[in-house]
Amino acid sequence: MKIFTTVKDMKNFSRECHCAGKIIGLVPTMGALHEGHLSLVKASKEKCDVTIVSVFVNPTQFAPNEDFDAYPRTFEKDVAKLKLLGVDAIFHPSPEEMYPAGFSTYVNVEGGLTKKLCGASRPTHFRGVATVVTKLMNITQADESFFGQKDAQQVAVVKRFVTDLNLSPKVNMLPIVREESGLALSSRNAYLTSEEKISALALSRGLKKAEATFFAGEKNSAALKKIVADELATEPSISADYIELLKYPSLEETEFVEGESLLAAAIFIGKTRLIDNIILTPNS
Ligand code: PAJ
Repeated sequence: MKIFTTVKDMKNFSRECHCAGKIIGLVPTMGALHEGHLSLVKASKEKCDVTIVSVFVNPTQFAPNEDFDAYPRTFEKDVAKLKLLGVDAIFHPSPEEMYPAGFSTYVNVEGGLTKKLCGASRPTHFRGVATVVTKLMNITQADESFFGQKDAQQVAVVKRFVTDLNLSPKVNMLPIVREESGLALSSRNAYLTSEEKISALALSRGLKKAEATFFAGEKNSAALKKIVADELATEPSISADYIELLKYPSLEETEFVEGESLLAAAIFIGKTRLIDNIILTPNS
């Protein structure tokens, strides 16, 4: 397994792969890898000849008041996990390599896609994500890219700019990997105390209850959101950032679940912000 830290070396590797007629898969990550990340790597390994995993805690997607410095960095452990899975290359650049002096070009997806849900409380977040993912796609020359439904809004944003900017990679979305308890795996779970981890289960529980009620015939958005809100209210240590039900992937408002819809919530528990969601698909 190769580890590249410069754009030049990463590009040369990708060029050689393409010259040899190989299909390249890219799995962008910020490291602190868990089974959620690894499910994307496995999907890439299955679909592509060459799998590149980027490990880069991207400063431009964090606001000044957010956890960029505290974000878990476990590179040696990440390398070991990726080696076991037979990854071909890791791209692990420094912030200076990705954003050298004079850097001044950003990818900005306009409108509701980046203003709703996480975009409302993190107004510069998706500009940072779109910029770094565009750069990673260009640097690795990927044919396929792999993202998790855990960040369903991110996937909608990525699909939008890949289409709008005629970028090459196909965008694949993989299901959320959860602990047996229901808690969605997240690098930020590392911030939780054991008590907070138990309280946090109200989030996945609420979403599951709403999903069951939906399958039992409830299509009203307000009623489904209330089920999540009521479940979160059982845990005094949780404050909800948002609970939303929107059409997916357009993220347009909808009073009733008619087509594919995203029921998503973000909560604060202690100082930690967690997100989770389910996609509701009416049987046609
Ligand atoms: P990060 O949070 O490290 O996540 C990397 C990828 O792993 C994302 O596509 C995310 O949706 C996926 N992922 C995280 N938890 C998951 C889970 N429990 N199940 C399935 N997939 C999961 O998302 C980012 O990094 C960054 O914004 C990035 C795209 C790398 C750009 O910097």
